[in-house]
Amino acid sequence: MAVPILDLSKQHAPLASAMREAFDQILDTSQFVLGKPTVDFEAALAQACGCEAAVGVSSGTDALILAMMTLGIGAGDEVITSPFTFFASGGSIARMGAKPVFVDIDPVTMNLDPAKIEQAITPQPKAIMPVHLFGLAADMARIGKIASDHNLKVIEDTAQAIGATCCGKQAGTFGDIGCLSFYPTKNLSACGDAGACLVNDSSLEERLRMLRLHGQSAQYLHEHVGGNFRIDALQAALLHIKLPHLETWTDARRNNAARYGELLADLPVERPLEPVGYTHVYHQYTIRVEAEVRDKLAAHLREKQIGFGVFYPVPLHLQPCFAGLGQQEGSLPQAEKAARQVLSLPIFPGLTEDQLQEVVTGISEFFH
Ligand SMILES: Cc1ncc(COP(=O)(O)O)c(C=O)c1O
Repeated sequence: MAVPILDLSKQHAPLASAMREAFDQILDTSQFVLGKPTVDFEAALAQACGCEAAVGVSSGTDALILAMMTLGIGAGDEVITSPFTFFASGGSIARMGAKPVFVDIDPVTMNLDPAKIEQAITPQPKAIMPVHLFGLAADMARIGKIASDHNLKVIEDTAQAIGATCCGKQAGTFGDIGCLSFYPTKNLSACGDAGACLVNDSSLEERLRMLRLHGQSAQYLHEHVGGNFRIDALQAALLHIKLPHLETWTDARRNNAARYGELLADLPVERPLEPVGYTHVYHQYTIRVEAEVRDKLAAHLREKQIGFGVFYPVPLHLQPCFAGLGQQEGSLPQAEKAARQVLSLPIFPGLTEDQLQEVVTGISEFFH
């Protein structure tokens, strides 16, 4: 039986008529950008995430760019971030004219290692951008302390971790601004590109809203140079329909993770960990195997038509576009090791017990 890495059809089937109705309403009003659907979604999102305000934007990448614009990060600044993440984390820093400073990850959580951040602090850093990778929050207690000790801004890349918690608070609400992505593969997904910035400070919220719309303070009066980071009304309306189901979908991901945990226990694979005090939302269920085995296991699963992903095979400090930063193979050994060992399995809500068993059987056959 073929098993996809992601199947959104089960999630959409029960909501399809509400989603079509939302589309009809927007078509009738011709209000395609921002508008009431956005205001309503933003209020619901802020409440769900446990923060003062949410500002809907055009993508997760734009949420990061807008957050940095809002915090005044630009040329000459350094921003500490993880090398083991999707390209947008480091790419957005470089697009601001700032320098990404890649710091190695914790070998167990695969998130930024706070001890390594301490070592990387120079007089230049302006901010830290922790990434809550695969749905597990970074160590925000220690990162927050480092940031306050060194007067650094914190932009949380929460693209993969809506609903994840650490020390009783949701990822994305610890720092100055939290950035969400609603790309279609994400735990809460739009039918296209969309994102949001989470914030707990009204003056930052005001600046986010202004910069989202070309820095406009009143119609055709531009206080700052911003950009077009607006969310489509349709995406906001569709996300608003889906948001009340997020908790159920997260529970389903967590149940699938628990099931994998039981069924993979006797196989030579390292399973993802949920540290005490954290809630993992399993955007990905990422196992680790010996580097020399990973690609063979991948080929075996491909042959069995079992979906998987390798997120991410090349860490950011080894990307050609960042060669000028001076790091090379061996500079960040934990990130490099993770890139050679990881493999993510289907974990989406709606994955059936039979499909999950098929994935486990595929892996088990490989090792026997
Ligand atoms: C960690 C991380 N950061 C940023 C992004 C960028 O989000 P988007 O694709 O919505 O621009 C993504 C999503 O792909 C991501 O996984």
